[in-house]
Amino acid sequence: MNKFFLNLGNQPLANNYLNSLKKKHIKYTLRLFFNTNNKIVSISKRIPSEKMFTNDYPYRSSMSKTMRHSFYELSKEIKKRFNPDKLLEIGSNDGALIKNFKMNKVIGVEPCKNLANITSKKGFLTYNKYWNYKLAKKIKDKHGNIDLIYSANTLTHISNLDDVFRSISLLLKDKGVLIIEDPSLLECIKKNSYDQFYNEHIYLFSAISVKNIISKYDLEIFDIKNLLTHGGSLRYYIKKKINKSFKISIKVKKQIDKEKKYEIDKFKTYKNFSKKVKKSKENLLKILNNIKKNNKKIIGYGATAKAVTVINYCDIDKNLISNFVDTTPEKINNYMPGKNIKILRYNKNILKNYDYAFLGAWNFKNEIINKEKKYFKKGLKFLTHIPKPQVLKYKKK
Ligand code: TYD
Repeated sequence: MNKFFLNLGNQPLANNYLNSLKKKHIKYTLRLFFNTNNKIVSISKRIPSEKMFTNDYPYRSSMSKTMRHSFYELSKEIKKRFNPDKLLEIGSNDGALIKNFKMNKVIGVEPCKNLANITSKKGFLTYNKYWNYKLAKKIKDKHGNIDLIYSANTLTHISNLDDVFRSISLLLKDKGVLIIEDPSLLECIKKNSYDQFYNEHIYLFSAISVKNIISKYDLEIFDIKNLLTHGGSLRYYIKKKINKSFKISIKVKKQIDKEKKYEIDKFKTYKNFSKKVKKSKENLLKILNNIKKNNKKIIGYGATAKAVTVINYCDIDKNLISNFVDTTPEKINNYMPGKNIKILRYNKNILKNYDYAFLGAWNFKNEIINKEKKYFKKGLKFLTHIPKPQVLKYKKK
């Protein structure tokens, strides 16, 4: 049974950065539910994929050093530990992972044309298609079964999880490995990062729920890794149950036990989370209004999908945060969905004109503060809402 626990208000598609104030956003009520049977947390409304993943999708995996490094390290591990003849990536984005492999060894699947074009122009075989059973069958007919299937921050965006895993199970070799990584529900609860939810982000996974979902397709987790990316993610290493060549690591049980200890399999945890989120909104608005009263200027650092959830839920417009800044070409000079705050192109002097920087990309806090330490030292104040709204103090090392 799906039980409701939080309403994040009317939210536009978080990645729909419009280039004109004349254009209007469609908004959808963002309501969060906990499934008491399989323990999945999800949003209620499912927008058709074609509306979300368009031909000019603005999210680029390669935009941060942290992510480039994470994909590079993973590629080294994959080669050493699994040495696949063929690797297929679902949601290959701009190629941040596959570019680390020999061209003839990888296949990308990417529904957004602008992104698929980036990898196919470089010579990587890329299917500009949505991941589904029909495509899995087509790829199987053409290339046979695949040794390793990888997907990061993608499967949680696809509504029909049954189709997702049925298709993976069809295409994966019996001795093959599936690696998926996504933000961790436990980390979200711990950090009170309600901004992990937006219209495109349908699910937030835990080891408990992944175990429940994949079991139907005779798949099981055999290893698990905690990652710092996206504010705390989990990387799940999955195999077919019939494949006995991998031992099940103790880390799997440890993660599940940890999640049970935090009671993320209980509804009361989400009721509690909901209260904390409302408090977080109140406190963030208090801080922003105070800054405004003192005539200080705030810029949002990182025009993230997460920040779109925050500004729409907390009703923050350009009177409170004058602008956002971002390095992504597709976002520059467009407006933050729903609140029409203009996104400026990043340059290294941009912070000069502001007193505070609100960390829209709080998940890259260390990378950003390190990059901007000159301004931080000189008195620019960083502001974040994670794990609770606060102004960060500059600490001399
Ligand atoms: P991310 O947190 O991955 O996104 P989302 O919530 O949308 O899934 O996105 C980080 C954004 O921050 C991305 O648009 C790039 C931007 N960014 C900068 O502009 N400068 C930086 O130094 C970093 C680290 C990120």
